[in-house]
Amino acid sequence: MDILIQPASLDLADSFRQALDVVAREHRYLIFQEAPPLESARNFISKVLAKGWSQFYAVRDGQVVGWCDVVRDEHPGRTHVGRLGIGILPEFRGQQIGARLLAATVADAFQKGLTRIELEVFAANAPALALYRKFGFVAEGRKRQARCLDGICEDSLCMALLKSEAPPSLFATESNPTENMESP
Ligand SMILES: CC(C)(COP(=O)(O)OP(=O)(O)OC[C@H]1O[C@@H](n2cnc3c(N)ncnc32)[C@H](O)[C@@H]1OP(=O)(O)O)[C@@H](O)C(=O)NCCC(=O)NCCS
Repeated sequence: MDILIQPASLDLADSFRQALDVVAREHRYLIFQEAPPLESARNFISKVLAKGWSQFYAVRDGQVVGWCDVVRDEHPGRTHVGRLGIGILPEFRGQQIGARLLAATVADAFQKGLTRIELEVFAANAPALALYRKFGFVAEGRKRQARCLDGICEDSLCMALLKSEAPPSLFATESNPTENMESP
């Protein structure tokens, strides 16, 4: 069964929330430990759609198996900046779905005018670090003992990608292979 990469939509809110819940409950990669209630997930998607933020889902047989989003910072002087989040259900990892989602989402965010995309990743999260580095994200700083949970303290890395430094070929998406890195 093919995996489709498609923009966020409210009809997939429940499925998105379930995927988020599975990854959150792994208690390893995300800052939260479970997904918010469905109503909060629906409100988030509504904001994505209303504000023109970027969110894409990987969909298999009508079910969300992964997501990626970039949320624009609305503070004065920060509206060129977005914050990236991503997750794939465990059984679907290692199949280039994360790479496809990240490419589609970052290309969309740049096309909408963002010029800097930030994220924070736990230092031990080797797959995510490799994914971000592959797409040109640069580590800008380390937060020592950023999270202490279940008796284990972990550092996290702050990473960012500037539009001016992004390799366009990596962000050519399936629906728009050449044009999505051009200025709006
Ligand atoms: C990080 C994550 C999104 C990667 O998605 P994925 O679909 O498994 O990754 P892909 O198959 O698209 O791989 C793309 C690149 O990521 C890196 N990567 C993926 N899995 C990896 C692994 N197990 N070890 C090392 N690098 C890995 C590689 O650079 C890979 O490129 P390559 O295939 O050319 O080597 C996924 O592992 C995940 O959802 N993890 C849990 C949630 C999470 O960590 N979110 C990020 C929080 S900051």
